[in-house]
Amino acid sequence: MKALVKTEEAHGASYQTMPMPVPAEGEVLLQVGGAAICGTDLHVFAWNDWATHNVHNIPLIMGHEFAGTVVELGPRCRDLKVGDVVAGETHITCGHCYQCRNGMRHICANLIQPGLHRNGSFAEFMAYPEEFLVKLPKGISMEQGTVLEPLGVGVSAVENIRPAGDNVVVIGSGPIGLAVILSAHAMGASDITALDLSPYRLSLASKCGATRTINTSSADPTEAIMEVTHGVGADVIFDASGSPAAISHCFKYLRKGGSVHLLGLPSSPTPIDLSPDVIFKEATIHGYHGRKIFSTWTRMINLIESGKIDPLLMITHRVPLSEAVGAFELLERGGDAGKIIFTFGGEGK
Ligand SMILES: NC(=O)c1ccc[n+]([C@@H]2O[C@H](COP(=O)([O-])OP(=O)(O)OC[C@H]3O[C@@H](n4cnc5c(N)ncnc54)[C@H](O)[C@@H]3O)[C@@H](O)[C@H]2O)c1
Ligand SMILES: [Zn+2]
Ligand SMILES: [Zn+2]
Repeated sequence: MKALVKTEEAHGASYQTMPMPVPAEGEVLLQVGGAAICGTDLHVFAWNDWATHNVHNIPLIMGHEFAGTVVELGPRCRDLKVGDVVAGETHITCGHCYQCRNGMRHICANLIQPGLHRNGSFAEFMAYPEEFLVKLPKGISMEQGTVLEPLGVGVSAVENIRPAGDNVVVIGSGPIGLAVILSAHAMGASDITALDLSPYRLSLASKCGATRTINTSSADPTEAIMEVTHGVGADVIFDASGSPAAISHCFKYLRKGGSVHLLGLPSSPTPIDLSPDVIFKEATIHGYHGRKIFSTWTRMINLIESGKIDPLLMITHRVPLSEAVGAFELLERGGDAGKIIFTFGGEGK
């Protein structure tokens, strides 16, 4: 089969032939129907500091966001059948750590992730544990399934606060920010201000349901947000930028008693002035990693089936897997893109 493989501890990846995977006990063999590029894959492609500390098993098939069709069952599979269309929960959990045993398995102490610790989804076929696959109902397409994993990051944060009637600010309008905007819109936020540095991404934010967009490369959003909120400040702020400066600054337009929800991953420490910004404001700060397993999936599928969220709004590019390296180079150049997905069919011909 053809796959995108990290073959060297250096920048880049290779589109090449790899052996067919064999499903182990409890695993199924999937024919991958769609796979999406995530920021984590960019780190692995670039081979930056983070990648050198987190990837230790090269050669490695990259990728973790995917949907596909079950084509073979390994030993002792119980639920799925050949022909089922599924999407992947990418946090493969241990089942016996404190979190796994106490209702927080999505933050398992021993997480294994495809494309980092085991072969991933940028391949025609993939073996995957049945337990971490979600069968898609007929109303959800393969393409929609391909971006459920990143959409779920947004749904997970937004479902935690149920922002009906709230003034919401979303910092960063990349795929994760768009997922937050789609979710906040679907769950009844009364007003959504989307921030980014890129006009292209801000136009995607509008399509996903932002009430207004502000380009923070040229404007401090504080005045506009204070005006919209009648001088009170935003009820709820989500960060999907990972920018330490933007996170430090957002407390200036957070209302007293408001909450800040952190999804973006800052690459350096983020200073927060605790007395004025958190303590006297009685602000809540909440971090999120991944999706609740599997309640976020249930809610997300309900929202898509009922037409309240259209995850295809996150996708801007559909690229054959054979052209994957070019897609990574586009993202590295900072080219205009939302979610890029790889399409399959014709590989190896
Ligand atoms: N918590 C989780 O489970 C989880 C899961 C996936 C991704 N992430 C993280 O979420 C973040 C977003 O992911 P993504 O795929 O959308 O990344 P991305 O890089 O495509 O998007 C980030 C966006 O933030 C914008 N931005 C940067 N600095 C800004 C600033 N000062 N003000 C406003 N906008 C700014 C960028 O222009 C960009 O459009 C990343 O840090 C990623 O690592 C977290
Ligand atoms: Zn991802
Ligand atoms: Zn665990």
